[in-house]
Amino acid sequence: MKFGYFDDKNKEYVIQTPKTPYPWINYLGSEDFFGLISNTAGGYCFYKDARLRRVTRYRYNNIPLDNGGRYYYIKDEKDFYSPTWMPVKSELDHYECRHGIGYSKIKAIKNDLETEILYFIPLGDNAEIHKVTLKNVGNNDKEFTIFSFIEFCLWNAYDDMTNYQRTYSIGAVEVEGSTIFHKTDYRERRNHYSFYSVNHPINGFDTDRDAFLGQYNGLNEPETVIKGMSNNSMASGWNPIGSHSIKVKLAPNEEKTLIFTIGYIENNQEEKWKAEDVINKEQAYELLEKYNNDTAVEEAFEKLGNHWNNLLNKFVVESHDENLNRMVNIWNPYQCMVTFNMSRSASYFETGIGRGMGFRDSNQDLLGFVHQIPEKARERILDIASTQLEDGSAYHQYQPLTKKGNHEIGGGFNDDPLWLILSTTAYIKETGDFLILQEEIPYNCDINNTGTLLEHLEKSFGFTLNNLGPHGLPLIGRADWNDCLNLNCFSENPDESFQTCDNKTGKTAESVFIAGMFVYMGKELAELYKRLGSDNKSQKVLKEVEKMTHAIETYGYDEEWFLRAYDYYGNKIGSKENEEGKLFIEPQGFCVMAGIGVDNGKALKALDSVDRHLNTEYGAVLLWPAYTKYQTHLGEISSYPPGYKENAGIFCHNNPWIMIAETVLGRGEKAFEYYSKIAPSYLEDISEKRRLEPYVYAQMIAGRDAVREGEAKNSWLTGTAAWNYEAITKWILGIRPDYDGIMIDPCIPKDWDNILIKRVFRKSTYEISIKNPEGVCKGVKKILVDGKEQEGNYISAFNDSSIHRIEVIMG
Ligand code: GLC
Ligand code: GLC
Repeated sequence: MKFGYFDDKNKEYVIQTPKTPYPWINYLGSEDFFGLISNTAGGYCFYKDARLRRVTRYRYNNIPLDNGGRYYYIKDEKDFYSPTWMPVKSELDHYECRHGIGYSKIKAIKNDLETEILYFIPLGDNAEIHKVTLKNVGNNDKEFTIFSFIEFCLWNAYDDMTNYQRTYSIGAVEVEGSTIFHKTDYRERRNHYSFYSVNHPINGFDTDRDAFLGQYNGLNEPETVIKGMSNNSMASGWNPIGSHSIKVKLAPNEEKTLIFTIGYIENNQEEKWKAEDVINKEQAYELLEKYNNDTAVEEAFEKLGNHWNNLLNKFVVESHDENLNRMVNIWNPYQCMVTFNMSRSASYFETGIGRGMGFRDSNQDLLGFVHQIPEKARERILDIASTQLEDGSAYHQYQPLTKKGNHEIGGGFNDDPLWLILSTTAYIKETGDFLILQEEIPYNCDINNTGTLLEHLEKSFGFTLNNLGPHGLPLIGRADWNDCLNLNCFSENPDESFQTCDNKTGKTAESVFIAGMFVYMGKELAELYKRLGSDNKSQKVLKEVEKMTHAIETYGYDEEWFLRAYDYYGNKIGSKENEEGKLFIEPQGFCVMAGIGVDNGKALKALDSVDRHLNTEYGAVLLWPAYTKYQTHLGEISSYPPGYKENAGIFCHNNPWIMIAETVLGRGEKAFEYYSKIAPSYLEDISEKRRLEPYVYAQMIAGRDAVREGEAKNSWLTGTAAWNYEAITKWILGIRPDYDGIMIDPCIPKDWDNILIKRVFRKSTYEISIKNPEGVCKGVKKILVDGKEQEGNYISAFNDSSIHRIEVIMG
């Protein structure tokens, strides 16, 4: 069952009912000011940091679901309702929500009034704009009052929901004309305030929540709206809100636009005040002036559209498959940009007060956006590398505001350092910017102790070598990519986190997954050295890679697949010998991606085992059979009920590793089968079952052992976005940026033909046409570059600003 449809031309998903199986959300903002908005206008906005600078309030896991947002109420002679359905929830005569790229539009008709609200954040300003268009679509004059509503967050989102002994006493506002200023804490340590305004004279306002709602009322029945008149209430402590009321009269067919703006302003210490206790509002008024008329707002909206079109234009595919086209051209790269902006901080599953930027997460996310915003990717790499420690180890997370390693969680996730090699090499391949390797970067953010980025990469590689276990395989530490496989943790205390509890000092638990990663990243590093002319170093690295490959083939393989690990006692995990958890997905993907066992049949057997034991209707599950009991020597993984999360859920992040591995073996059908099983657009028809947005990936789909198989959880902020983008663009469609040019190496289903791809690479545009007359999965027989046949399938970078035609004949 569907709840809407894709409008590919406008790059929008159109939702036709407010009652989606879960709130379906979108993101606003791409610089410093951000908003989350659901299809019924729920959500909140913040400046830079969703915890420390939250501008509006939102209560997670509330009843009813998704209650709190930027709401409008219409009160006419008969009735009152919300044109976004929530929070009043009266039936609308018509409803439509269009989630687009960086904006959302919600439209409704009721009692002959058509309302359309466009929500977006303009480039260059810290403000959320709501353009509200009201139109009388009936035959009679219409009179009504529109009420606005937002609730201010008292900045620190964590305090805001825990520390009421303080927060109930500090709330403060000012009102001037049509603008409500929120200035809690401004009189002491804060030099920022927010405001909520409308470009129209108002009939009244409210800034005190109890006055607006009535002491015991919910957002669905504000007393003020019911009686039709604001109270001009001034908040003093308790809960400051912003609400305007405006009386409107419209003749048949007449239309009126109101522009509401939520803004955020920082003042210099010396310029904080205009008079005693009166804040300096100059900047706010400048901002409001800028967006005070329809034309200005429309221009800003158009500018935002151009900005996004430009970003999404760097890779465009035209094929017979509209699901493929829209995932590759619109939604997947868009989601990748959102993961760049948010990491894992703020979504409808992440509260914005928990995690900072993950070391491994952020390095992997980079794969999905480096071609769109290479300058920001560069900055991100340097930020991440600055938190690395001198022994090569890494903090598991760092804070976006301070850019410092997070001490609370610390380090000890032994895969972390190696991911830096992946992001850095991907960046250089995209840009050709080898100079980044010479940047002097601190260790542990200490500017007196630095090393070049290249030295940081050496330390990443060295870290694994300095932490090997009894089989010559890497020690796992707290965990590797799978945060929940905690082999040294042995936790029996429900009050501690698996991620931070004291570990036993383990010198035995080893990870075959990290071993596979080490081989993959080692080959990358060796290639990099070669390009830099350091053949010696390259050879040295390759020697270690060879040793590791040998260790994996000898101790890390079990007849038909790669093992997962050795536990604290030195016993195998992910082996035929185990009763549960016999086979894990992660090492099958990464070892084959690294080329291990490709020549001797081990890789083939491993992928056939994945197909046989892990592949299901909705994608490949993480492991088989699921753990049915909690076992201290395995940790969090066995704490989840069978079929959910890392315990045999379909963890979408590592399905693409299998897709890529399949392309290494040339099996285009299989690679694409895995792709289309989890790519959301292909699943639109089962939205009632999948429940989450059909336009973005979710971290997990419940596996076959789960009660609710096929149900997705945790959409938007997941490494799934970047890895699927990597799998489809670089390995299935086969367009791979490299140090000196682009490799063209598609691996597709046999019956695909006539694929057109536009790829912008280092300023030049490559217009690539792929023909497959013989119906093969892989293999390039002939390539014409601007009409001339060339040897091989590696096309040198042109480094010009022109368009080049590349004709590819497979065979
Ligand atoms: C989550 C984490 C990621 C981890 C994965 C598997 O997605 O963000 O770091 O690798 O879970 O446990
Ligand atoms: C839990 C989750 C895992 C996530 C981790 C991050 O362990 O199961 O997916 O990576 O928390 O803190």
